[in-house]
Amino acid sequence: MTLRMTRRAFCGAMAGTAGLAALPVRATGPQTLTARVAKAQIAPPKYAPTEVWTYDGTLPGPLLRVAQGGRVTRRLVNELPVPTSIHWHGFRIDNAMDGVAGLTQEAVPPGGAFDYDFAVPDAGTYWYHAHTNSFVQVARGLSGALIVEEAEAPEVDRDEVLVLDDWLLNPEDAQFMQPFGHPMSLSHGGRLGNLLGTNGTFDFAREVRANERLRLRLINASNARIFVLRLAGLDGWTVALDGMPLPAPEPVEAELILAPAQRIDLIVDVTAEDGETAALVRFDDDDQWRPQARFPVAGKASATQRDGPAALPPNPNMAVPGIDSARRLDMAIQGGAMGRMSGAMMNGRSMGFREMAGQGQFWALSGQVGITDTPFASLERGETVRMKLTNDTAFAHAMHLHGMHFRQVADDGTLGPMRDTILSYPDEPLEIAFVADNPGKWLFHCHMLGHAASGMTAWINVS
Ligand code: C2O
Ligand code: CU
Repeated sequence: MTLRMTRRAFCGAMAGTAGLAALPVRATGPQTLTARVAKAQIAPPKYAPTEVWTYDGTLPGPLLRVAQGGRVTRRLVNELPVPTSIHWHGFRIDNAMDGVAGLTQEAVPPGGAFDYDFAVPDAGTYWYHAHTNSFVQVARGLSGALIVEEAEAPEVDRDEVLVLDDWLLNPEDAQFMQPFGHPMSLSHGGRLGNLLGTNGTFDFAREVRANERLRLRLINASNARIFVLRLAGLDGWTVALDGMPLPAPEPVEAELILAPAQRIDLIVDVTAEDGETAALVRFDDDDQWRPQARFPVAGKASATQRDGPAALPPNPNMAVPGIDSARRLDMAIQGGAMGRMSGAMMNGRSMGFREMAGQGQFWALSGQVGITDTPFASLERGETVRMKLTNDTAFAHAMHLHGMHFRQVADDGTLGPMRDTILSYPDEPLEIAFVADNPGKWLFHCHMLGHAASGMTAWINVS
């Protein structure tokens, strides 16, 4: 068996199939989320269903919706053969509910349960996913969307949540390729799938009408794939990033880049005509644009197009004041294949790169491999922090801060949109700033999950 099957093997095989699968949607979620093994038809129908790990048996997990200012209350019931926990990605919540096994809670053992209960301050598009051995558990399917509704939602004809993912399957039997942490993927770009899809299927489609206005909530739930996307037969605006509203809608003119864990909220109008197919298209590894989600047009919603949408109402506490007098931190992203790192500190001792690699560790953040006893930084509650990220590796990394959102600081000192995950490119230093207003132990890590598991994880303390 070879680990080098390409996605093309699947694409070729799927030509001529037209299977559609509907996203299981529940308006009100259950009061429990049960992590369990299930089967899902991710691949074209001629393939066997894939054994996946799920919440409540669906891939992705149940779509949860809650009103802004409301509470998320879910009991995680673990019916998996291994311990697990749930992280509520992008939520500015109580640290005890953050779901990071080994830092904010003990992992929930098989047969065990854990009650998550927290208030949600911010409206927007968020998601939840396993945070115990994430590089395995998220790859197996443990993730879902969590939408927080604005008190006054924008006027759209429909609101579609699109969970983008990729799966690395063995084309022989459509089961997950193992191991999940192959040294080759850990030390390079991460686990990239050979089958791409949306909402748990390789060929996601939703019928729309001409001139309909849709809100599309894009979530990248993949382990490591950076999606490069365009609109076809759709005219649109970006209205929020990582859940947080932009001050004004931005027309989509160029490609949209969606790194692992990032979200983009779009408002789009269907410009394709009756009988045509609009689509969200992605740029594939073989330089082809292919549909990531199809929107066949049947009928007309109205004769004319509408005016551009208004901005979403802002969330509370989006300002990052005082960046001139802010505390400065420097974080260097290091290691990996073709990197310049000769070694780093691991478990309190200095190690050469070879020795690290022998233990499955390939990356470091500012000279430290993985979680340390003492935090990367101890911050005072309420202080503003500027953190410079220098990427000394040969790869892009999707750097994610738990518990607080940040803004990128441009060279001229202006602040970018508020985000929780930012893509850092090799040799392009960038700076982020945030107010450390949420007390607790918060991870800062790469959301290429194999990278996080092989060294690229740090934490900060806010007290
Ligand atoms: Cu979405 Cu620490 O992760
Ligand atoms: Cu990374």
